Amino acid sequence: MATSYNPFSLEGKTMLVTGASSGIGQTAAVELAKLGAKVVVTGRDVARLQETLDRLEGEGHVQVAADLTSADGIGALVEACPVLDGVVLCAGRGLLLPLQFCDGDKFREVFDINFFSPVETLRLLTKKKKVQKGGAVVFVSSVGGTEIFATGNAIYGTSKAALSSAVRFYANELAARKIRVNSVNPGRVNTKLIRSGKLSEEQEQADIAKYPLKRYGEPEDIAHGIAYLLSDASSWVTGQSLVIDGGLTI
Ligand SMILES: NC(=O)c1ccc[n+]([C@@H]2O[C@H](COP(=O)([O-])OP(=O)(O)OC[C@H]3O[C@@H](n4cnc5c(N)ncnc54)[C@H](OP(=O)(O)O)[C@@H]3O)[C@@H](O)[C@H]2O)c1
Repeated sequence: MATSYNPFSLEGKTMLVTGASSGIGQTAAVELAKLGAKVVVTGRDVARLQETLDRLEGEGHVQVAADLTSADGIGALVEACPVLDGVVLCAGRGLLLPLQFCDGDKFREVFDINFFSPVETLRLLTKKKKVQKGGAVVFVSSVGGTEIFATGNAIYGTSKAALSSAVRFYANELAARKIRVNSVNPGRVNTKLIRSGKLSEEQEQADIAKYPLKRYGEPEDIAHGIAYLLSDASSWVTGQSLVIDGGLTI
């Protein structure tokens, strides 16, 4: 077999990654560039976004700072994007809250970034014809959308359940334009997001013990799933949620 044979290559493709200033999105941007993609990276924190840009292999990458809970932020990002072969909608946040505090405002706060932002970004990108025929979209959902892996995770979990549902509707609709839509659904991954949950060292060890592979995920574990779903290797895969969770949900 020729050594150049690589159906997972992203050579010649242009990708947008949201949430690229930290954690899973940052690592996804770095891995996509290693596989040959030109990447548009976006996040709010300009200094961390610059760090991402500095870590990208190859030429032609672009950064766009934007708050994706604002219509102006999403509009400016979409405007700045060239025509894309791939879109990774990763920006999001966590929240652990007992039911008695889960009022409408808290739901709206989390749904704004975890659900409305990615679906609005995709709506505008497709409306403005910024996603190429044959392109691929990956939402970053969570096993928290289907499993009760932490008490008090109702708002976060329902925001991700909504996202996983949207994947199926959009995959069905965008198939007419040969655009594939999938999600990755990670278990707990070592990023700053899980540090906001405030588990004690002892609680964390007990939690890790629930994972058959006996560790939390690393951002690379998720980035590689994202890269697969963006590559030609997955060209007959659409409307699916790829669970990447060290066996937690077996
Ligand atoms: N870590 C896990 O265990 C885990 C598990 C399952 C799913 N996920 C999902 O993976 C995604 C990434 O999470 P992570 O763990 O990598 O967390 P992270 O390190 O905290 O990164 C979150 C990213 O989202 C961006 N973001 C947040 N609010 C934003 C806003 N209003 N506008 C634009 N960007 C915004 C952040 O940008 P700034 O920092 O620049 O503000 C940052 O780049 C999230 O959707 C999360 O739900 C994570």
